[in-house]
Amino acid sequence: MTTPPLLNLDAYEAAAHVRLSPGALDYYGSGANDELTLRENRAAFGRLRLRPRMLRGVAQRDLGTVLLGRRHALPVLVAPVAQQRLAHPDGELATARAAAALGVTMTLSTIASRSIEEVAATGAGPRWFQLYVYRDRAVTQALVARAEAAGYEALVLTVDAPLLGRRERAIAGAERPEMVAANLQHDSMRAVMAGSAGATPDLAAYFAAQLDQGLTWDDVGWLRSVTRLPVLVKGVLRGDDAALAIEAGAAGVVVSNHGGRQLDTALATIDALPEIAEAVAGRGAVLLDGGVRRGTDVVKALALGAQAVLVGRPVLWGLAVAGEAGVRDVLELLRAELDLAFALCGVRNVEEVTRDLVV
Ligand code: FNR
Ligand code: LAC
Repeated sequence: MTTPPLLNLDAYEAAAHVRLSPGALDYYGSGANDELTLRENRAAFGRLRLRPRMLRGVAQRDLGTVLLGRRHALPVLVAPVAQQRLAHPDGELATARAAAALGVTMTLSTIASRSIEEVAATGAGPRWFQLYVYRDRAVTQALVARAEAAGYEALVLTVDAPLLGRRERAIAGAERPEMVAANLQHDSMRAVMAGSAGATPDLAAYFAAQLDQGLTWDDVGWLRSVTRLPVLVKGVLRGDDAALAIEAGAAGVVVSNHGGRQLDTALATIDALPEIAEAVAGRGAVLLDGGVRRGTDVVKALALGAQAVLVGRPVLWGLAVAGEAGVRDVLELLRAELDLAFALCGVRNVEEVTRDLVV
């Protein structure tokens, strides 16, 4: 008996739920506190309606887009998601290969379970590196230097997690997933986790002890001074912050609430997007993540001012179901949905996805 194909990203999520260990599922799936923002990211996409154009000659469609001076096959990237080996033994290596097969850029997390160099050694690309700033700036600078040396093309500075949000579902869960910080040789993570017994969430203790809670907009300038790579600021939810990012020299921003894992009741990213696109006003790239599960979600984000979106959890669901092939299928489903949405909206390329397509 053959199993029926998984038709969409939600089907992947359901299939992954029965494959992942309870601890991995709680870590991956959870949002902060009441998980209102986690749900709201998707609900907000669901509230928007499309106004398709007809008879636009859509026989030829091009899903490509240009970001940071490079052509991307799709306006979709893989978000930085930590600890992918909890989903599959190959972890981030499988994700990198799958993304590359579709010409999709993968963003590797600082807290990855495969190292900067291991992922680069797959030969898969293009790749970006997500950066957390450690109190020990030498540790941070070493990460930046390694990402540069290994051919990562941009740094994604995450600014919405000075401390980890309180993911109560994960704290309440009985099982603690075994995490490895493959990028941190001194394995500061192991030491912190060994000391955090009982109900204390491991990763939260690690963030509190290791990351720099004193970060300010000046540190964007600092990061720029220690790298030749473009810097994107991830985790912006306001127009004024987006303007500060651009004025600090960022090449762009990622509109994100960390998939609802940080500040619960923060607004949905698609609702934050128009103000941010207006504030950036073409001075840098605007990307968005959080709750993107359908091709029509991508169209809505493009229409409201994003140049591209990132997907987080769906990649984990693909990994859990079938490793590299699963991630490839997840991205392929999204690509096919986007292509169909373009045709049915009467648009042939990203330039034709204009504001008036959405109400
Ligand atoms: C994340 N995210 C994240 N972001 C980041 O900047 N660094 C990281 O290490 C991680 N790690 C991480 C782990 C897990 C399990 C999840 C689910 C998310 C946030 C991620 O980059 C992205 O903002 C969200 O996942 C986007 O929302 P969706 O697509 O998961 O709804
Ligand atoms: C998380 C961190 C690692 O969301 O960003 O779990």
